[in-house]
Amino acid sequence: MTEVALTQPRSVEDYTLLLQDMNGHMERLGHLITSLLTLARADEGNIPFEREAVRLDVLAEAVATTIEPLAAERSIVFDRHVEANVTVMGDEARLMQVAMNLLDNALMYTSKDGHVTLYLEKTSTHALLRVQDSGIGIPAEHLPHIFERFYRVDSARSRSAGGAGLGLAITKWIVTMHDGTITAESQSGKGSQFSVTLPLAKEIALSSHSHQSMVSSANEHVLSGRGVHHLKQRKETNPA
Ligand SMILES: Nc1ncnc2c1ncn2[C@@H]1O[C@H](COP(=O)(O)OP(=O)(O)OP(=O)(O)O)[C@@H](O)[C@H]1O
Ligand SMILES: [Mg+2]
Repeated sequence: MTEVALTQPRSVEDYTLLLQDMNGHMERLGHLITSLLTLARADEGNIPFEREAVRLDVLAEAVATTIEPLAAERSIVFDRHVEANVTVMGDEARLMQVAMNLLDNALMYTSKDGHVTLYLEKTSTHALLRVQDSGIGIPAEHLPHIFERFYRVDSARSRSAGGAGLGLAITKWIVTMHDGTITAESQSGKGSQFSVTLPLAKEIALSSHSHQSMVSSANEHVLSGRGVHHLKQRKETNPA
């Protein structure tokens, strides 16, 4: 791309577009490298996991606060239904990545005027985090494979959106490391729902982090490309 651009002088506008394009490519590469490193380290078993009390309700509200403007930008209606006082034991940053990855997909694979909803509920033993969308859905024959590494339902579509097909593999790994489960239900053309269950913390433990500090780390996820990278890129390369 740069070789062709450098063959002759170009206008400031052309150079600006080129730099914006390159910025998008760098973002995608950065995201891909982070994902590959995460999985490589996961395979080695040498990623340290925190095990602290995490208030999932505070985390879900913080993630929702970060996601809201990104959904609005895409004219997607975003709702949240978050039950109070849901505490699990685990790694707050990794659990935030789970919510971000699922919401990234939900927003990415839902078109304008669609709906995305984040739910958090609890049973007597488990927390249940669900991300539901009214998007393009996943055909039944693909559904059993979407948690596999590099699996994309429609690679042409995903490539244009910058997807590497690693988000759900990482998400499943994090959930499994928390003794949880993740399942997907979908109807092609109608939408999808991803459900995560995590065991509740046995004893009542106080979370060390406030809503505001979690909003800051949720924003950081977006800025560092660890979550909602597709949407961030879209914003950068297409500011309108
Ligand atoms: N909510 C959804 N609606 C429709 N298709 C989805 C949804 N979530 C995932 N998919 C399909 O599953 C595939 C795998 O998702 P995954 O998050 O692992 O990869 P990705 O989004 O393509 O890339 P990335 O590694 O950047 O997350 C996607 O490419 C897409 O085809
Ligand atoms: Mg993804």
